[in-house]
Amino acid sequence: MELLKKRIIEEGIVLSDKVLKLDGLLNHQVDPQLTMEMGREFAARFRESGVTRVVTVESSGIAVAFATAYELGVPLVFARRKKTLLADPDAYCERVPSFTKGIVTDIMLSREYMKSEDRVLFIDDIIANGDAAKGLIKIIARSGAELVGLGVVIEKAFQSGAQTIREQGIRIESLVKIGSLTDGKIKFVE
Ligand code: G4P
Ligand code: NA
Ligand code: NA
Repeated sequence: MELLKKRIIEEGIVLSDKVLKLDGLLNHQVDPQLTMEMGREFAARFRESGVTRVVTVESSGIAVAFATAYELGVPLVFARRKKTLLADPDAYCERVPSFTKGIVTDIMLSREYMKSEDRVLFIDDIIANGDAAKGLIKIIARSGAELVGLGVVIEKAFQSGAQTIREQGIRIESLVKIGSLTDGKIKFVE
C-alpha cells in the first residue's frame, strides 16, 4: 500500500534497529482518512471469506479494525487486557508475555462475542514477535470459531511472529512489510 509507505517514511522514527516509533499514525494519533483506506484494503482482500466478526486486541489495533468492520458491515470485537486475572467463567483468557514492555498481561474475550459459528477476521496494527497475536489465535480456536485470516498493518518481517503464524497454516495479509531498520533506515520488503 504505497500511501501507507509514504506516511511511514514521513512520520516513522527509527528508535533502534528493532523499533519504529509510529505515534503519528498508529500509537497515539489516528488519521481517519488513512485508517479508512486501510480498512477498505483489508475488506477487499477478505471480501470473499464470509467474515461475520472482526476482532483485535486493544488498544492500537482498534481504529483500523473498526474501519475494516465498517467496510465489511460486521461487528468489531476487541479483546481486553487485564492486569489481574480474576477467573471469569464467561470469558476466554490467555496469558501473554510482552517482549517490548517486559511484562505479562492477560487478554480476555467474553464468550458472548465469539461463537462457534463465527467466521473471524483478526486485524492487528503491528506484528513483531507475535505474542499477543498468538494469544488471541488460541482464544479464537478455543471458541470453535473459524479464523479466516489475519490482516496486519505493518509486518516486521525481520522478527518471527508472522512467519510462525503462517507456519500454522493461517493466512496473513500485511499492508506493508518492513525488512530492516538498521542504520536508522526503513527498508521495505517489496
Ligand atoms: P507482538 O505485538 O507481535 O506480540 O510483539 P511484541 O510483544 O514485541 O509487541 C508488544 C507491543 O509492542 C505491541 O503493542 C506491538 O504492536 C508493539 N510493537 C512491537 N514492535 C513495534 C515497533 O517497532 N513499533 C511500534 N510502534 N510498536 C511496536 P501492544 O502491546 O499490542 O500495545 P498497543 O499498542 O495495542 O497498546
Ligand atoms: Na501496538
Ligand atoms: Na496491536
